[in-house]
Amino acid sequence: MKKILLSIASVAAVAVTNAQDINLPAPDFSQPSTSTIEALRTRHSVRSFTNKELTNQQLSNLCWAACGQSRDAQHITAPTAMNKQEIRLFVFTKNGAFEYIAKDNKLVKKADGDHRSLIAGGKQFKQDFVMDCPVSLLMVIDFEKFGSQDSHAQMMGCVDAGIVSENINLYCQSVGLATVPRATHDTEGLKALLGLGDKQLPILNNPVGFEKK
Ligand SMILES: Cc1cc2nc3c(=O)[nH]c(=O)nc-3n(C[C@H](O)[C@H](O)[C@H](O)COP(=O)(O)O)c2cc1C
Repeated sequence: MKKILLSIASVAAVAVTNAQDINLPAPDFSQPSTSTIEALRTRHSVRSFTNKELTNQQLSNLCWAACGQSRDAQHITAPTAMNKQEIRLFVFTKNGAFEYIAKDNKLVKKADGDHRSLIAGGKQFKQDFVMDCPVSLLMVIDFEKFGSQDSHAQMMGCVDAGIVSENINLYCQSVGLATVPRATHDTEGLKALLGLGDKQLPILNNPVGFEKK
């Protein structure tokens, strides 16, 4: 009897965990947007946000633009050195921290609760406007995926994260969302929260929302 109850409990625990993941709607490739030229001309960093939430459709479109699957299952919207795809994207909201899994178009929950203050900054320097942003996207270099952590790999990881961030910058500008690329965050706090090791490095983030004018 005890054995049966235990196995029911463990099945229930898995169901709860899975229930906390978010299956995103398919990205909308026909959403209204400005031209690339216009996005390049007008892109600017925003540091003042309303607390208006993004819909799951907007979140899906945003994550896809950052590093979603593109022309086939082997490629993503951001080019990466040797197509290593070593940049992992984490999504922070007031409800939790999630990892974006491009192939499944899904957000997998990594932590419950509001951890946006780790994105805002650490003890040395913090930018409080991040707490107003409904979503922050964190780029993490995964050297395990790259296959090396030497100086060349570190340089390529930084370049590849920058490209993901610029995808976000230009996408936001083209659809009326606001963002700013940031290198400020609590690196050690984020690593502990997300269960990252020495071979993963949080490197850049983009808070995303609606500009307070
Ligand atoms: C790698 C990088 C790191 C940055 N880090 C921060 C940051 O921590 N906080 C911030 O407010 N802005 C940050 N910025 C934004 C820059 O300050 C901003 O892009 C620059 O002033 C030019 O303004 P613009 O983006 O409006 O053209 C960063 C930008 C880059 C590219």
